[in-house]
Amino acid sequence: AADQVDELVAIAEGLAREAGRMVHEGRPDRVEVAATKSSAVDVVTAMDLASEELLRRRLGELRPRDGILGEEQGFVPGTSGVTWVVDPIDGTVNYLYGIPSYAVSVAAVVGPAGDDGRAPDPATWTVLAGCVHAPSDGRTFTAGHGRGAYLDGRRLSIGEARPLSGCLVGTGFGYLATRRRSQARVLVELLPRVRDIRRNGSAAIELCTLGFGGLDLFYERGLAPWDLAAAGLVAQEAGALVTGLRGRRAGVDMTVAGHPSQVAELVGLLEEMRADSDM
Ligand code: IPD
Repeated sequence: AADQVDELVAIAEGLAREAGRMVHEGRPDRVEVAATKSSAVDVVTAMDLASEELLRRRLGELRPRDGILGEEQGFVPGTSGVTWVVDPIDGTVNYLYGIPSYAVSVAAVVGPAGDDGRAPDPATWTVLAGCVHAPSDGRTFTAGHGRGAYLDGRRLSIGEARPLSGCLVGTGFGYLATRRRSQARVLVELLPRVRDIRRNGSAAIELCTLGFGGLDLFYERGLAPWDLAAAGLVAQEAGALVTGLRGRRAGVDMTVAGHPSQVAELVGLLEEMRADSDM
């Protein structure tokens, strides 16, 4: 199984780098919005679509029996038990504006298939391998289950524990106004209690940043499986606790990550604020 993990990490890295190169080198001076999704500010560019096409084509060649779940084209089941979870560009809005913080995220997961041919459920799957590659600065984060996390080959380890008041906290916002109203309400309470807040525009990069102590904590409500799969494993393998509220796993309701003792403090606060509901 360890060999399989190493092989999956190598594939994830090769694919994320190849798609990343295309995304970065192919970026026109002015990026056009190709379509909108959940709201007018939730955008897709032609490059999101091209990057996912490339990832699917390569996976079809390399791992024809595996399933694929991607942000833009949904789920195609496989027969091997392995499913690839891909985000062709995490940080699409940064990409649109030419802000360098965007990444290609590729993970391999195993877990029971969902009902009625649906994708396996992030609440029950195990992430075996992941790579987050940020092509504009060339940084590559990789992790294998039980095998540690690495940035460009250097082993990652999260920062030390400090009280919440001394923590630099990363977060992000969804694309729907109702969600944002509740995220703003949480921010009003949290900002006065921490060192500062960062919103970098790519949840995958922020989660990976925990791995070298570049953030103390990260939290976000509404993350999709492809935002979380590879980067959550990187954070975890670097020593972070990655969890949800009220004993649940990290996921769409809430993701909190960082040093376990700091996470406990933030989880307590977020639970009090009912940060896992839009109200
Ligand atoms: C988004 C980014 C952003 C986060 C959003 C995600 P996308 O992913 O990760 O930082 O706040 O929740 O949807 O749309 O750029 O792939």
